[in-house]
Amino acid sequence: MFIRALSLRDFRSWEHAELELSPGRTVFLGSNGNGKTNLLEAIGYLATLGSHRVAADAPLIRMGAQRARIGATVVNTGRELRVDIELNQGAANRAQINRSPVRRPREILGILQTVLFAPEDLALVRGDPGERRRFLDELCTARLPRLAGVRSDYDRVLRQRSALLKTAGRQARSRADLSTLDVWDGHLAEHASVLLAERLRLVHDLYPHLAQSYRSIAPESRPAAIAYRSAYLPPEFLDPAREPQSDDTAALEEIMLRELAAARTKELERGVCLVGPHRDDLDLVLGDAPAKGFASHGESWSFALALRLGAFDLLRSTGAEPVLLLDDVFAELDRRRRTALAEVAAGAEQVLITAAVPEDVPAELAAAPLRVETTGESTHRTSRIVEHAPGFA
Ligand SMILES: Nc1ncnc2c1ncn2[C@@H]1O[C@H](COP(=O)(O)OP(=O)(O)OP(=O)(O)O)[C@@H](O)[C@H]1O
Ligand SMILES: [Mg+2]
Repeated sequence: MFIRALSLRDFRSWEHAELELSPGRTVFLGSNGNGKTNLLEAIGYLATLGSHRVAADAPLIRMGAQRARIGATVVNTGRELRVDIELNQGAANRAQINRSPVRRPREILGILQTVLFAPEDLALVRGDPGERRRFLDELCTARLPRLAGVRSDYDRVLRQRSALLKTAGRQARSRADLSTLDVWDGHLAEHASVLLAERLRLVHDLYPHLAQSYRSIAPESRPAAIAYRSAYLPPEFLDPAREPQSDDTAALEEIMLRELAAARTKELERGVCLVGPHRDDLDLVLGDAPAKGFASHGESWSFALALRLGAFDLLRSTGAEPVLLLDDVFAELDRRRRTALAEVAAGAEQVLITAAVPEDVPAELAAAPLRVETTGESTHRTSRIVEHAPGFA
């Protein structure tokens, strides 16, 4: 797929922008702080309904504005769809497909698919489990957009059940509290099992792509592997080589219910929910050691890169090819890894690349760049694009 047109209004440093894009490569060049990442962040938001840099939407709205708008015309195997989203300060976000409002923003998921490489990716290897859960869940949702609803149901039930655990744990437990907790256990297990089954299926499917991507980036290094980590699932479920079964969801729901019952006393004592996908992680392994805490800086970078490349390969092998977004990544890479990434990117249907200086763009990807600059004074400063700026070709 590719983005044919992009429009921004009051998104971060962009007051207003209308961009025509083509398949193939587009390079955005500009000095630090001019708004290049903001542009890719906006596109990533349309694909995932989240930013790769911040957890909340507020920083995405241009300072002083009430709402931000991002819109794109997406072409997928000849079929064109327009998606728009409006981020509102202090009110619910709203989305449109082909200019008609949809009931919930998450209905636009799946229309635009992207894989974004960014300097923040190092956190996939070095950061908290939450970073890796987000990686898994975003990729699961790209494969199965209806999972966004399951994730949001799970989060809601988790919040409500945790609140109940806190109050019920503090007071003398009434019979009513405990039977309410039983009901919440049922809801939690129901949503958790769908999410777990998708995560396990993803790890199984991603594994060969990840291993292959890592080999091509760092052939001299030890082999890379991934495995789902969970304290409450039986070990056979955690083996990435295990073929997912059609009745996994039912089996996982039963396991969840059993484990929740077993953890009940401890959960009431501690007032937190101790069982469920919100506690899980993705193990990243190099040779026979965990990457986190053992891998060198270069190896960690290669692993992060291999996870993204693996995700791109996986999505491409089973559905439409996602738009590749490369945010300032080449400057961080040595020559071999630059070449490996550049080779994949050069063959992509559409790749959008940002860099501060032309030398950071590998020759395979060089294209007449669009220059991103900032104009205006203080609060009226805004990013803008200068087409094919002289001196940058
Ligand atoms: N909500 C906002 N309103 C207005 N400006 C913002 C907002 N959020 C970020 N900015 C501005 O956007 C700029 C950063 O943009 P961005 O991260 O896209 O830069 P960049 O071109 O990618 O730079 P670098 O080369 O350093 O990565 C900063 O100057 C910041 O002040
Ligand atoms: Mg940037």
